[in-house]
Parts: sequence; C-alpha cells; structure tokens
Amino acid sequence: MADTITVNNLHKSYGKVEVLKGVNFSVKKGTILALLGPNGAGKTTTVRILSTLLSYDKGSVQVGGNDVKKDADKVRSMIGLTGQAAAVDELLTGRENLIMMGRLYRLTHNSAKERAQELLEDFDLVDAADRPAKTYSGGMRRRLDLAVSLIAAPPLIFLDEPTTGLDPRSRLAMWRIIEQLVKDGTTILLTTQYLEEADQLADNIIVIDNGKVIAEGSANQLKSKIGSDRLELTFNTIKVLNNATSVIKAKGLEVDEKELKLSLPIKDTNKDVRGILDKLAKDKIKIDSMGIHKPTLDDVFLSVTGKGKED
Ligand SMILES: Nc1ncnc2c1ncn2[C@@H]1O[C@H](COP(=O)(O)OP(=O)(O)OP(=O)(O)O)[C@@H](O)[C@H]1O
Ligand SMILES: [Mg+2]
Repeated sequence: MADTITVNNLHKSYGKVEVLKGVNFSVKKGTILALLGPNGAGKTTTVRILSTLLSYDKGSVQVGGNDVKKDADKVRSMIGLTGQAAAVDELLTGRENLIMMGRLYRLTHNSAKERAQELLEDFDLVDAADRPAKTYSGGMRRRLDLAVSLIAAPPLIFLDEPTTGLDPRSRLAMWRIIEQLVKDGTTILLTTQYLEEADQLADNIIVIDNGKVIAEGSANQLKSKIGSDRLELTFNTIKVLNNATSVIKAKGLEVDEKELKLSLPIKDTNKDVRGILDKLAKDKIKIDSMGIHKPTLDDVFLSVTGKGKED
C-alpha cells in the first residue's frame, strides 16, 4: 500500500530552540498513525507543518503525494484538520457552523444540511444544535469543533488531541467515528497523550520525546519490547508472603513487602500459573488474590522515556 504521508529528517526551530531534531515517519493509506508524546514533545508543531500552517527548516514532507512547501494548495485541498484551539464561530449556532463549513467545502446546501444533521447526531449535539455556540460548555464546543472538521469527509485527517477534555462517553463516540472514517478509507494522523487511545485506535504508534522519535511500532510490538506478562499474587500476612517467596524462587521474582505482594514473569499462562499454584498448595500457602498484569503502553512509555506520562 502506498504511503500517504512521508516525513524525512524534519527539523524545526523556534528562534534558537530546536523543537524537532530530525523526525522520520510514514503513514500508509487507510491507516491510523498515533503520535504519542508528553507536553512540549513537538506533536502540534509536527501536525501544523504537515497541514501547511507552519514552515520548517530542514528535511522533506510529502502529504498525499504532494510536497507541503511546493504544493501547499493541493495539500490543503486534501486534508481536514482539528486543532487544539477551536475554530468555531461563536455567534452562529452549532448547525449553522456546520452548514457554513460544508458550503466552504462546496457541498450543496442540501447535502451540507444533511451532513450537519448526521454529525449533530453522532456528536450528541442535537438538543443544542440551534443555540449559538457561545452558549456551549467546553466539552460541547470541542465536539462541535471536531464535527466541523469532518464535514467534507476529506481523504486525510489530522486530529490534534481529538479527545482531550471530552467525558468518557464523548470519547467513546469519537473513537467510533474515527474507526468508521478509517473503514471508509480515510487516512488519519492523530496526536494524543493517552496511551490507551493510541492502543485502541492506531495501526502504528510513534513515540516522540524531546523532538525525536524514540520508539515506533504497533501497540503489540511496543508492548512486546518491554517484556512478558507477570503473575501477581497477594497474601494476607508478611509471614505467608515470605513462605511463598521461598517456595516459588523463580527468576525475575519481585517482592513488595508493603503491599504483601509478589510478582514474577510468565510465558505460558496456563502451564506457569498451574505450576506455581501447585507449589503453593503443596505447602498449604493461602493466596489472598491473584492477577495477571499485561504490559501496557504506559509501561512502554516509562521504559523508553525513563519517565511516566505525568512527569
Ligand atoms: N510559536 C512558538 N514559539 C516558540 N516556541 C514554541 C512555539 N510553539 C511551540 N513552541 C515550543 O515548542 C515545543 C513543542 O511544542 P508543541 O506545541 O509542538 O508540543 P506538543 O507536543 O503539541 O505539546 P502539548 O502536548 O502540550 O500540546 C514546546 O517546548 C513549545 O514551548
Ligand atoms: Mg500540542
């Protein structure tokens, strides 16, 4: 499948501060790439360059087969963009905003009206549709902004933190819409600080930190980089915990005396768990609770950046 977006050795400085230090990635047609990174990593800068809103210093950027510098107009005609800052006309109603944007994208009045109604329903804005946008809550405004960027169904969509500030229900609704867009052949680049979101939606994930790509792959590939599932066992007293520790004696065993918990890596879940339960049963050691921890993207982030998302 052809690459719809190709970014090579992208550099960008604001004054003396180099924000992008040689970023490389590509996005295949009809897939979702998630750009994951902490505050200030360079996500918005990258999206603004790709959508022709910002110039860059070095490297090359192709979007939909066009160079963003030489053929900026062609690029603009193929993309839809939702920024972190909303682009909604406060005095118009939600419905009017949608119809106006549809008309800007040359939909007929009737198809703009129909599409507006569809989006109002998808984004749960029907009740507020005919009120001026200035009366909307923050979350409603965010949803309207997203709906506006989807009105013309462009082949390529850039979403800069599409679900930041949405409540869980609206976030799920947004995910469903993004999944549907991709099913229909749209290519999507989204930025997010939510590992869960990248995990849920993206075919490919790029982790950027400090202006550089520090990890890349599918959610599963990234997770497998940081190791195996772990069996976690909790006990009622420190004495039982210590007994269990001496009975299990496995490689990679970690003991947390404060939480009365131990954990160890497992490969074959059925076999390994049964083996350990048998050992404990033989010595009549009673387990309080048991669970299997699968590596999450949070663990990936921690292991590649050396810090948690919130740091
Ligand atoms: N116009 C500007 N002038 C100077 N510095 C800027 C400008 N825009 C962004 N920066 C700096 O560039 C760096 C990257 O910013 P960017 O907005 O791309 O990060 P981000 O990954 O989108 O962060 P966030 O998660 O907070 O949205 C930050 O250190 C920011 O302060
Ligand atoms: Mg940003």
